[in-house]
Amino acid sequence: MSAVVIYFSKFGNTKSVAEAVAAGLAVDGSARAVSIDELVAEDLAGADIVVAGSPTHKMNLPDDVRAALDKLPRHALKGAKIAAFDTSYHMSPFLARFTASKKLDKSLRKLGGKRAVPPETFFVAGKEGPLDDGELERASAWAQTIAGQVN
Ligand SMILES: Cc1cc2nc3c(=O)[nH]c(=O)nc-3n(C[C@H](O)[C@H](O)[C@H](O)COP(=O)(O)O)c2cc1C
Repeated sequence: MSAVVIYFSKFGNTKSVAEAVAAGLAVDGSARAVSIDELVAEDLAGADIVVAGSPTHKMNLPDDVRAALDKLPRHALKGAKIAAFDTSYHMSPFLARFTASKKLDKSLRKLGGKRAVPPETFFVAGKEGPLDDGELERASAWAQTIAGQVN
């Protein structure tokens, strides 16, 4: 099983979650985390699992992430199982409906990926972090759930 975790991160928190997810997925095969700034379509070729992570910005997906995904070929994720996560503040149930991962999930499926698990949020205490205690462990467990859906 080969997995790629693509991420965008302004302050490093989403990167840390992406690396924890990649480490969790690497237990069952090969997995690496790639910054979306450096992503090229070839990184995704032949991947069984593609996970994407982004911070929520202004209740939405940051423009940089949208632009990077828009550059990919139309069926770049055909044949891959996908999963999306975001890092966000704790929000009211109303605002929690507007997370980057929900938008990411939609974009990844538009590129031909099939959803392995529902979008997930990992929580930060403030704009620059830190991640809440236990979130990296939760990310690792989430990766195991994804791998379980694929195997
Ligand atoms: C411009 C900007 C807008 C943000 N808007 C939201 C928001 O709407 N909802 C939210 O939960 N967090 C929001 N945040 C907080 C981010 O979710 C937080 O900075 C992010 O999780 C940190 O991840 P990073 O270290 O990978 O950049 C915002 C942060 C920035 C910089």
